[in-house]
Amino acid sequence: MLTLGIETSCDETAIALIETRGSGRSLEYRIISSLIHSQSELHSAYGGVFPTLAKREHEKNLPVLLEQTLGPDGVARGVIHDGRTIDRIAVTEGPGLEPALWTGIEFSQKLGERWRIPVIPVDHMEGHIVGSLLQSDRPDETWRKLEELPVPALAFLISGGHTEIVLCRECSSQDSGGSETAHASFAYEVIGSTKDDAVGEAFDKTARLLGLPYPGGPKLSAWAQEARRQDIPAPRPLPRPMIKSGDLDMSFSGLKTAVLYAVRDIEKSGALDDTVRKGLAREFEDAVVETLEVKLRAALDRTAARALIVGGGVAANSALRDRFEAVTREYDIPLFLPSAHVSGDNALMIALAGSFSPASDARPLKAHGTKRLGAV
Ligand code: KG4
Ligand code: ZN
Repeated sequence: MLTLGIETSCDETAIALIETRGSGRSLEYRIISSLIHSQSELHSAYGGVFPTLAKREHEKNLPVLLEQTLGPDGVARGVIHDGRTIDRIAVTEGPGLEPALWTGIEFSQKLGERWRIPVIPVDHMEGHIVGSLLQSDRPDETWRKLEELPVPALAFLISGGHTEIVLCRECSSQDSGGSETAHASFAYEVIGSTKDDAVGEAFDKTARLLGLPYPGGPKLSAWAQEARRQDIPAPRPLPRPMIKSGDLDMSFSGLKTAVLYAVRDIEKSGALDDTVRKGLAREFEDAVVETLEVKLRAALDRTAARALIVGGGVAANSALRDRFEAVTREYDIPLFLPSAHVSGDNALMIALAGSFSPASDARPLKAHGTKRLGAV
């Protein structure tokens, strides 16, 4: 089966084409193409993703990426290079920025009508979960299986838009409708989430306070690493928010505000320079990583999870990867970390998640900005 995946939930326009065979746990895939066009430079002037600009850029980029994927004849007829027909389109319906989501949905619907094939809605967060199970993200001829995921498993999804701990269980036959092609088959429950800023958002906003351009997360992290190497201390301690809350929820906006006050105070005293800023970057990253570790341990204890998936752009953070690796070693459970290509937003994960669903999942589509995985 040939699935075209389309992702426009935030500031990445992405189109992927994959082929799958088999179903459920024995599903095999191979990647024909996976293209990502990032708009982050355009949004940097606004210090964050500007929804109207994202929408306009998606509208401009989608036809270009589609033509790069299929060629003009393929675009016209819905076929790939060897003449075979694309069977379905998988598109992100949420969560994300609604104007951005609508662009992908409308584009997919038009293609679906032109090619007379179903358009399957995909949850972006489920995309991050299954994307972490890919054995390889390279386009090539090889058929591959997904990594075997022991359940129950936890997925820690940390991006610029979301911060969630999701419990993934075996899908009961009732959930899957007993369908042969039913999903590989997990049932999802969000057991913890942020009450305000997402982790990536907190990284980006804090980076901005430290004078780093959007998206500042990776740059802030590079500063934190430099501070550790050069033994630059924290100019003042920052809070570890909600570590004693007794639940799995998180909050990061207070941490960002604490950095704001620290920067203001130190600036007033005339001592603010890049060394101090690097010390703050280090303390901020330590505070985030320690907080996430506390929540991770609590979630593992509570659910007796047999595996951990980490997804979302912040999964690229090396301090966090090191901690999560140490924790999963201690708990003796496997850790599934997405490769660099799939840790950020991409359409490969959307095509994959969309190829699990039965074709009957195709329904009138609607952008669902605040969609919550597992909620009915
Ligand atoms: O999943 P993603 O590509 O897009 C969505 O937000 O959905 O995640 C992007 C986020 C940004 O906030 C970016 O700053 C953050 O991931 N990020 C990082 C790192 N790499 C990306 N944050 C901290 N450390 C990193 N190395
Ligand atoms: Zn994402």
